[in-house]
Amino acid sequence: MKTTPTPAIERAPAAIADALLAWFDVHGRHDLPWQHPRSAYRVWVAEVMLQQTQVATVIDYFNAFMARFPDVQTLAAAPSDDVMAHWAGLGYYARARNLHAAAQAVVAEHGGEFPRDVEALMALPGIGRSTAGAIAAQAFGVWAPILDGNAKRVIARLAALTATPGTAAYEKPLWQLAERYTPKQRVTDYTQAIMDLGATLCTRSAPDCPRCPLSEGCAAYAQGDQARIPTPRKRKKRPQRETRVLVVTDTADRLLLEKRPPAGIWGGLWSLPEVAVDADIADVCATRFGLPVENAQELAPIHHGFTHFELLIHATRVQAGRGARIMEGSLQWFEPNARPGVPAPIAKLLDSPQHTLAL
Ligand code: ADE
Repeated sequence: MKTTPTPAIERAPAAIADALLAWFDVHGRHDLPWQHPRSAYRVWVAEVMLQQTQVATVIDYFNAFMARFPDVQTLAAAPSDDVMAHWAGLGYYARARNLHAAAQAVVAEHGGEFPRDVEALMALPGIGRSTAGAIAAQAFGVWAPILDGNAKRVIARLAALTATPGTAAYEKPLWQLAERYTPKQRVTDYTQAIMDLGATLCTRSAPDCPRCPLSEGCAAYAQGDQARIPTPRKRKKRPQRETRVLVVTDTADRLLLEKRPPAGIWGGLWSLPEVAVDADIADVCATRFGLPVENAQELAPIHHGFTHFELLIHATRVQAGRGARIMEGSLQWFEPNARPGVPAPIAKLLDSPQHTLAL
């Protein structure tokens, strides 16, 4: 594999944009919910959801979010519990906390109007250079390059960039090329087009080069290296961690949940109380929750993969006897049908037949 960029990257940028736009007109995605109507608020929420989540998953979350928070003022004024509940299951919860803070900044500092330029957008919490570019280009038609994961892959292949993803030797030329290829005309469509191409044809493991509008002049394709570019990241084995959660119900069948601290996994979300793996359950329930335990039963553990580690979640089902204290603050009882949004693996645990049967 060659290590230097080939002259193919010198292909006239206008030819690349034209070919991509012609393909987009026929094959691109034109019916995403945030495209109709298109507003800075809607594009921003969608782009933040799309930072780490696939379009197919985002669509339902986006629609529910818009139904509850139709504009930036409503979002800014909403209680954080409500915002977190609408993010529950999407993961990477810092995104939701930043989204809420950014909505408040847009209202307080920008009179409720999103700024139009990339620098000002990047000053808002949770908006990096690519998300700012997507908002500027997609909401305002302002010229701005974007470089999400899909666009990176397309450009890395066009230029046969063999540097390791995540390094400056990879990111810097990619931004330069992204700027070079982004056309002055139809920038809204162009940014969507490059993401759509990356998501549908220029995929990570099975690029469909014969159908690709950019195959002519793609350096990776010319070298037969499209499957080896981008260079795969070395997968480090993720460390394994273990924890234990308690599924505590009282005599009225209410469920005990604890609001997690803002930092750390599932920050700001309601979840099952977490204890040490080898905790003495009766002791913990008495000292931490003031609860008499009538019955404790081990449930099947579940696995959950996070980006940097894997978690084995042991679970104990606890029936609390009479005398259960009224809880306040970060510990609360929830009625069986009033459960707030909880992290996806916790929802899975609570909804699993083994749990329901045990109740
Ligand atoms: N990924 C990030 N932004 C996107 C968008 N607007 N459409 C599709 N995928 C995306």
